Amino acid sequence: MTRPLQSSSTSQARVIAITSGKGGVGKTFVSSNLAYALAKQGKRVLVLDADLGLANLDVVLNLQPKVTLHDVFTGKVSIHDAIIKAPGGFFAVFAGSGLVEYSRLTQHIREQMSQIMKSLSQQFDYVILDTGAGISDVVLYTVSLAQEVLMVVTPEPTSMTDAYATIKVLTSQQQRDRFKLLVNQVNRSGESRKIQGQLQQVVDRFVSPMVPGKSVQLVLAGEVPLDKTARDAILKRQLLMEHYPQCPAANAIHQVALTLIKDR
Ligand SMILES: Nc1ncnc2c1ncn2[C@@H]1O[C@H](COP(=O)(O)OP(=O)(O)OP(=O)(O)O)[C@@H](O)[C@H]1O
Ligand SMILES: [Mg+2]
Repeated sequence: MTRPLQSSSTSQARVIAITSGKGGVGKTFVSSNLAYALAKQGKRVLVLDADLGLANLDVVLNLQPKVTLHDVFTGKVSIHDAIIKAPGGFFAVFAGSGLVEYSRLTQHIREQMSQIMKSLSQQFDYVILDTGAGISDVVLYTVSLAQEVLMVVTPEPTSMTDAYATIKVLTSQQQRDRFKLLVNQVNRSGESRKIQGQLQQVVDRFVSPMVPGKSVQLVLAGEVPLDKTARDAILKRQLLMEHYPQCPAANAIHQVALTLIKDR
């Protein structure tokens, strides 16, 4: 068991859900590296693997957790016993993989997750939820636990269409009117602005009218280039920010962290 830094204040964490419409766009990559970057800025950060049934944050961080959320849900341990120290001074809570019981949302999981979030919020400055992709009830529920949504999208048309569909559902179900957009795997600098513009246009036309009196805003949180080093790091199970801090993708994630700290 690793004890995180104890907070003397009662302040609440910023809870950020990192989500996407399409799978495999880089949510876990962004969650783990962003956590590292925020911790380097002196923030107390925890990443929770909210991809409950198909968790793999542990693989990306190259850690073998003995205790996971499954043990918390089944009452074997408290959430504090499931907090594990990750490289770079941030903390993580892992979930189990291949556990079919978490492919659907039950009242029990809802209640447990809600309690867990209350407890974690009091101990950290940032709680990052690395969610699954899409609009399953588990994903929508875990996103609902966050104040802020960081939508990860790549320049691929399928990723953009799925991001749009997810934004539409989150707007209608959760009355959200602000989404942060992170464009991952860009091919050239500045490409994210074009993607943000295109998505904002369809959102203005088809999503904003669903919430009378509001206009749904997509705020650009940054862009991360398609970087061979990022792929290599994942293959070697190394955290990019830790092992290749000077590569283009790591520099970009550092910028995203600074933007996030400034922009609430
Ligand atoms: N900026 C990047 N440059 C190059 N490769 C990248 C980049 N970002 C992510 N990748 C590659 O994409 C793969 C998928 O990333 P990741 O597992 O983080 O996606 P995900 O959205 O969490 O997937 P899932 O929906 O399955 O949870 C990684 O293994 C990595 O090789
Ligand atoms: Mg993932």
